Amino acid sequence: MPATAARNSAAARPATNDTESGLGTALNIFIADTYILMMKTQACHWNATGTQFYAMHKLTEAQYAELFAAVDELAERVRALRQLAPNGLGALLQLGTLEEADCAITTEQVARMLATDNMALAEHARDLADEAEEAEDTATHDMLVARIAVHEKAAWLWRSHVA
Ligand SMILES: [Fe+2]
Repeated sequence: MPATAARNSAAARPATNDTESGLGTALNIFIADTYILMMKTQACHWNATGTQFYAMHKLTEAQYAELFAAVDELAERVRALRQLAPNGLGALLQLGTLEEADCAITTEQVARMLATDNMALAEHARDLADEAEEAEDTATHDMLVARIAVHEKAAWLWRSHVA
């Protein structure tokens, strides 16, 4: 089969990861964790104190903005997979695996907590990327691989605050 015909037949194929596969459901859990991390990062931006306040304040701001944009992109991928995205804060908290936390803490505690949380999301993204690859869902796989890099970089930045 010519390459063009192969591409066309692949494009015409219905999404393999619709409601039957559960990948959309798994993505919703990752969205919930991303959202919870965004809320924690923003709460630290507001409430943490310490000698590194200004650096922490700026870094948390950049990160919660990035996480907010990522949630939107991931939720739209869930819709493309023909499932509903999480509906409301209650649903996000119910779905998520990441614990909420008191963010009125020191900047050093922020760095340790957000390094750990970002590594947890990197691992979560890695597991999901493997599932997406098995399901031959290239778009979801690529999106998750990008999330691994973002969370590993964020974890490195926070680790460097306390090295
Ligand atoms: Fe702010």
